[in-house]
Amino acid sequence: MTSASADIPVITIDGPTASGKGTIAHRVAQALGWAVLDSGALYRLTALAAQQKGVDVGDEAAVAGVALDLDVSFQGEQVLLDGQDVGALIRQESIGNLASRVAAYGPVRQALLERQRAFRLAPGLVADGRDMGTVVFPDAPLKIFLVADVRARAERRCKQLKEKGISANLSGLLEDMRARDERDRNRANAPLVAAPDAKTVDSSSLSIDETVGIVLDHWSSLGFRAAARRAD
Ligand code: DC
Repeated sequence: MTSASADIPVITIDGPTASGKGTIAHRVAQALGWAVLDSGALYRLTALAAQQKGVDVGDEAAVAGVALDLDVSFQGEQVLLDGQDVGALIRQESIGNLASRVAAYGPVRQALLERQRAFRLAPGLVADGRDMGTVVFPDAPLKIFLVADVRARAERRCKQLKEKGISANLSGLLEDMRARDERDRNRANAPLVAAPDAKTVDSSSLSIDETVGIVLDHWSSLGFRAAARRAD
């Protein structure tokens, strides 16, 4: 991180799979006029690229090499990997599961670290993932840990998939989600855990608008305090 980028505010939104992080991050970023980092997409892209290149996904160093060389660009809704739009491909559950597996590798996380920090551009960044507040942007002024009970998350994911015309089965999703949570929480490298200074928000029975409102309220109350400190 450069001293200039340290002045650029970041709101981190971490939490388990399908807790609504992506939607909330986009809505908060839109409200503030900031950029978004979907860090999960980078792990999904690494998994997809490794699969497409026929790389052994059990080989940590080889997968880290793939992560380092990713040729990726985000253009609105499109996610281009080697110039091809893979936005829909990386959202598949099979790629999410593979991403969770390769995300446990330390060298892969290291390979993606600076690429993630490069998203910190003025006027601000909303970063969503698992370790945004703990590892990637530990100095972020606002850290949100977004949770929701596993059944609510599986139901949401089931609905999303069906809306996209993809067949989905609730009990299968529940099982996959529990396994992925378990792996993301218990891995040695950057496990899913709330930063000590994070605000936990439980969205199980909140609407998207309510959740966005809570995050924005936290942000404005911080701004008020910062302004008050400057006035002292
Ligand atoms: O948020 P997501 O479902 O798109 O993430 C896919 C996988 O990537 C997730 O199971 C764990 C991993 N991941 C991670 O380890 N660290 C992040 N910052 C983001 C995602």
